[in-house]
Amino acid sequence: MDKRRQEKIYELLKRGLKLTETGEELPAEWAREFFPPERREYELVYNGKETEEQILADTMAVPFQEVSTFGQNGVDWHNKLIFGDNLQAIKTLLQMKADGKLVNADGTPGVRLIYIDPPFSTRRDFKGSQDQKAYQDKIAGSAFLEFMRKRLILLKELLANDGGIYVHLDYRKGHYIKVLMDEIFGEQNFINEIIWSYRTGGVSKNFFARKHDNIYYYAKNGNFLFNTQYYKSYQQKKYNFSEKYPEFFDKDKQKWYHNSVCRDVWEDIYPLGTEADSKERVDFPTQKPEALIKRIIEASSNKGDIVMDVFAGSGTTSATAEKLERRWIAIDVSKLAVYTIQKRMLTLRKNISNTGESLAAKPFTLYNAGLYDFENLRNLPWEDWRFFALQLFECKDEPHKIHGFQMDGKRQGSSVHVFNHFKEGQISQQTIADLHASIGKAVGDRCFIIAPRGAFLFQEDYLEMDGVRYYALRIPYSFINELHRRKFSALVQPNDEMAINETVEAVGFDFIQPPVVELELAAKKQAVSVKIKKFESKARLRGEDKISKHDALSMVMVDYDYNGKVFDLDKAFYASAIKDNKWKIELPTKEIKGDVMLVFLDIYGNESRIVITPKVLRAKAKK
Ligand SMILES: C[S@@+](CC[C@H](N)C(=O)[O-])C[C@H]1O[C@@H](n2cnc3c(N)ncnc32)[C@H](O)[C@@H]1O
Repeated sequence: MDKRRQEKIYELLKRGLKLTETGEELPAEWAREFFPPERREYELVYNGKETEEQILADTMAVPFQEVSTFGQNGVDWHNKLIFGDNLQAIKTLLQMKADGKLVNADGTPGVRLIYIDPPFSTRRDFKGSQDQKAYQDKIAGSAFLEFMRKRLILLKELLANDGGIYVHLDYRKGHYIKVLMDEIFGEQNFINEIIWSYRTGGVSKNFFARKHDNIYYYAKNGNFLFNTQYYKSYQQKKYNFSEKYPEFFDKDKQKWYHNSVCRDVWEDIYPLGTEADSKERVDFPTQKPEALIKRIIEASSNKGDIVMDVFAGSGTTSATAEKLERRWIAIDVSKLAVYTIQKRMLTLRKNISNTGESLAAKPFTLYNAGLYDFENLRNLPWEDWRFFALQLFECKDEPHKIHGFQMDGKRQGSSVHVFNHFKEGQISQQTIADLHASIGKAVGDRCFIIAPRGAFLFQEDYLEMDGVRYYALRIPYSFINELHRRKFSALVQPNDEMAINETVEAVGFDFIQPPVVELELAAKKQAVSVKIKKFESKARLRGEDKISKHDALSMVMVDYDYNGKVFDLDKAFYASAIKDNKWKIELPTKEIKGDVMLVFLDIYGNESRIVITPKVLRAKAKK
């Protein structure tokens, strides 16, 4: 056990008595350290499997930065759409739960229901390309299992005591994840394996056609919330149940025995796109039907409960939750998904399958988690900046003084000072020497100083004086090896349609650095042609080379009638297709209804926005 861990245990033991007096809970990672779960008879063993304590302790929380709020802020709750890696965002939500900020309408803490449909692409399975091995390891191998396991461990902590989780998978990975869920949630908390069976797509004659998905349903505890689900009579008619299940149907009375209670094989819900009248399609490759999510939400939550999807995709869960009057949280690491959800929530229809009158969504806020707008941050009042800075480096807001010198908080037991660059200017080696002269060894062996990168006049991660290390925590800063056991890795945005269903893992945080874009426009009768003459991403992770020019483009998203306020996604062009078209995109004239907003996204999630007005287009047309 390393020294820092020993110190932490000592500190917790010292606080132990106080914890019982105040009724405070022991943090989850330490509860397991002191009271380890009983040894299992068997478990799934694979490369790189970390301990639960390690995962809980090592995952960074990243603060949420408000980007925009749609509708007025709710009094006690507003729904959340979060752009960022879900693991880090879940850790932040865990903190909110501990602070009493994640409550259902009935006052109970925690998320009542989680539904997830995680990505596991198989697009390169048959390609036999050189990178197949690395790809297989990432998506199909142990890395995928650990990717999922980490998230499931944290999700369990986030659930309300009577909450439940549904994990949507198929025959490829389902059985592995089920074993992991048995380990994490306990076999006794396994409730159902739902078979969602359908008839769409091709069939093979060489084996039985694979025509179902598996949805694993676990409860957090024995006393879980469950509302019995019944087949609706129109479904019974539509899907011809009386003939399919004659044993449950009394033909003379034309009635069902046992109300035809919903079983664990679901054949009455059709995948999207097979019904001609589908109004819910939003052009997202892995979109699931609202009817499927409706059954899950109605079974495992009540009105006013928090329903969460951390692989939100096109936002089926939030859209359905909104229609069923639940609270919701949606997280996705892809900008395309986030803009798709934003649009979907702003153009909802009342009924499931998106028909009927329009429905104004209750207020919701879009947040960035892990990729921040530094300009907005810079303009924050000092107190807000100070709080954000503390959160960013996972420090406790705990002002205290050492020999009269004001400290702002604690990080892993050591003092933290948030440098007021507004007032105090810059930090040189001499500033640290002066600080050391006044506080000396009273600060312990470490002290952290948070400030904007530009405020530090030295390059080192820390300066050591008399055995005391003064760490420079720079904002924005992509990487601090000393403090985090794992390397930071950037967000990755898809650059073709198939990449939408790939796992993405981003660790750490960074600040938005808009790419440089130069365009050449040509307005013709049928279409406006936009040539991307220059594209250069400014994002860079420490120690990693910048990806060259156009290769860093992820996609171009278009709003054909930009209203000057909200970007309303109408169309996405993936970089792979733009490249094939010699870095040109064609905007059909018939689609253009006013100002056109183009969002150029780099693969790290940074965007540059360009508005093309009708006036510019007319001028181009004349030429
Ligand atoms: C299969 S799709 C979900 C589809 C969704 N159920 C629907 O109905 O539209 C998986 C989503 O997970 C997202 N994703 C992948 N890795 C992620 C991560 N680490 N954090 C958050 N979202 C992630 C992808 O961007 C993708 O949108």
